[in-house]
This record gives sequence, structure tokens and C-alpha cells, in this order.
Amino acid sequence: MDLPSDWTLTNVKESERDLLEQLLQFYLYDFSEMDDEEVDESGRFRYPVTGPYGREPGRHALLLRVRGKPAGFVLVDERSPIPGSEDRRYVREFFVMRAYRRHGYGAAMAWAIFDRFPGRWQVEQIGPNVGAQAFWRRVIGAYTAGRFSERTEEREGLTLVIQEFDTSAKAVTWTERDR
Ligand SMILES: CC(C)(COP(=O)(O)OP(=O)(O)OC[C@H]1O[C@@H](n2cnc3c(N)ncnc32)[C@H](O)[C@@H]1OP(=O)(O)O)[C@@H](O)C(=O)NCCC(=O)NCCS
Repeated sequence: MDLPSDWTLTNVKESERDLLEQLLQFYLYDFSEMDDEEVDESGRFRYPVTGPYGREPGRHALLLRVRGKPAGFVLVDERSPIPGSEDRRYVREFFVMRAYRRHGYGAAMAWAIFDRFPGRWQVEQIGPNVGAQAFWRRVIGAYTAGRFSERTEEREGLTLVIQEFDTSAKAVTWTERDR
């Protein structure tokens, strides 16, 4: 898979917390088309759990920059919060700003976290998010040379598409992997 090289993915610093919160708002806005979330009287979406990410062990907040400019973020749990899946890593949130989409940055970010946190993984998408489903099938498929499983589950009134795979033994070499 061809991946771009003009990007970085770094731990969110305390000085970048406001930036993370702002990008999160854009992400929630995108999602509101699918989950019908509404903004409060300050015009913001509520999101309760960013605080621990990047501050507590096993919870990571990573910022994507393209040519130095903020372009996305990912929140990763080293242990999935889904009951019965605690032995798996988990993508809590994953976002590429619209201006940077379909240039391979999402794939680059996904491959980078799979490299950075080798092990068994679980990724979920809500049913209506068919673009994200196509994205994850493509990048996980390329990373694992097709060795992943997929199932659909109903949880709290939502249909979830779930992929599971293992990144301990990487199938494909990527020369940019150490960035
Ligand atoms: C899903 C998302 C992260 C993809 O980021 P991206 O940088 O555009 O993805 P890439 O350019 O790396 O895409 C890699 C491949 O995935 C597939 N893909 C990506 N987005 C797709 C879409 N909307 N529809 C169908 N396939 C898609 C394509 O095969 C693509 O390769 P191609 O462009 O050569 O055809 C981005 O659209 C996004 O942030 N969406 C909103 C938030 C979201 O849904 N996050 C995921 C939550 S589970």
C-alpha cells in the first residue's frame, strides 16, 4: 500500500489539549449526520472521556500533522473497554480532517498505531458509517495480508461492525514505520 511521508503522529502535549478538543468537535460534527447528536447552548457537542487519554497509562491521544499542520487525531486504549475483549487494543476515536482525506493519511495513521502497539486489536464502526467500514477493511486487510475477522453485533440499540486481528507479526514491511 502506498503511504504518504509528509506527516507526523505524536503524543498530544498538554499545550495541545485545546487543539485536540477542537478537532474532536469537528469529528463529532461529522458523526452527527449519523448519530443525531445535538450541540448544547454553547454550540458544542458533549464528549465526556478525552481527559484520561494521553494522561493515564494505557490510554493514548495522538495528533496527526501533515506538513506541520493539525490534520487529525486518534485515541487508543491498550485494553479494549468492551466486556470480554480486555486482551485487545482498541481504537476509541479516529479522525482525519476533510481537507486531508483520500490521500492515505488515515491509512498511515492506522499502520503507525498498529506498529506502535503490537498485539491483538479490535476496531468498531457504527452501521451507517459505511465509508469507515470500507476504510478499515482496506487498511487492516493490507496490513495483515487479509488475516482479520469481521462480525456484526447489536449493542445498546446500535449495529456495530467489528474487525479483529493481530499486529504482532506484521505481514507487510513499510519503510516509514519508524517515524
Ligand atoms: C475514515 C477516515 C479516517 C479515512 O481517512 P482517509 O485519510 O481519508 O483514508 P485514506 O486516504 O488513508 O484511505 C485509504 C483507503 O481506504 C478506503 N477508504 C477511505 N475512505 C473511504 C470512504 N469514505 N469510502 C470508501 N472507501 C474509503 C479507500 O480504499 C482508500 O484508498 P483510496 O483512496 O486509494 O481508494 C476519514 O474519512 C474520517 O476521519 N472520517 C470521519 C471519522 C470516522 O468515521 N472515523 C472512523 C471511526 S470508526
